[in-house]
Amino acid sequence: MTAILTRPNWTTDLELEIFDKLLDQHAPHLPKKRLEEPRPPKTAEERENFYHYRVAGAAHDLFIVQVCAKIIDSFADPELQLFLSRQIGDDGAHAQNTRLRAQAISGQDPIEDIQKQVQKHWDYMGDLPIRNWQGFLAFELHYELHIVALLLINSRTSKINDPDSAKYAAQRILPDEAVHRLGVVDWWQRKFDQASPTEKEDLIVQVLEADEEGQSRRNPYLWDHWLLSQKGIGIEIDELPILYDAWRREVLAYFLDIPVSQLPKLISVSD
Ligand SMILES: [Fe+2]
Ligand SMILES: [Fe+2]
Repeated sequence: MTAILTRPNWTTDLELEIFDKLLDQHAPHLPKKRLEEPRPPKTAEERENFYHYRVAGAAHDLFIVQVCAKIIDSFADPELQLFLSRQIGDDGAHAQNTRLRAQAISGQDPIEDIQKQVQKHWDYMGDLPIRNWQGFLAFELHYELHIVALLLINSRTSKINDPDSAKYAAQRILPDEAVHRLGVVDWWQRKFDQASPTEKEDLIVQVLEADEEGQSRRNPYLWDHWLLSQKGIGIEIDELPILYDAWRREVLAYFLDIPVSQLPKLISVSD
């Protein structure tokens, strides 16, 4: 029997199509592209808030590096190892660039502040990212895919940015992150597509359970982070929690190859 592929490939175009559909449903007044260019932080207070926002960004990337470096040896899957080695290299480079930009703006090396924030990720995520493949997949989903709703909102509505950071993000971070998301999709699909229908049902339950644990672990962080984004780059979007939840459902429905409406009720970022 010839297998019929029903799922479209995961691409950045598909991401935009899904996200813009969610905007139409939940926040039609939000722009589909950037209307106004951001400006650099001006006052001491703005620079301070922007610094904390950048430290959080570097910590997100450095946490990914630390998790992937710990776990890479536990998978006997050379394809996955090659992907993870790229992810480690890229996210390490992103963290380093962000560190240097934060240093240029504040006049101090933020490495200790960054590592303090990385430790907070370890504290709230616990051993989930390195517990087993299910936990690691949930980690990748949360740190690479579920955050896309916020990234897209930022890219369209942020009011403050540093021009050098914006240039690096456009040239390096955006294309790298698209590769990371594809790498996660690819690893998962190699596993899922060869499973039998009964095995698939089992996998779906396991992935949802790990992803839900990730969500409840991340909820307090996400609210803190959104407050930081509001202060640091001027993002003020009331619909952010709704868009976050709806986007996460779309990602999970795609991964598990079931319609969004057939997903069970999931933990909300607002729970
Ligand atoms: Fe990154
Ligand atoms: Fe990444």
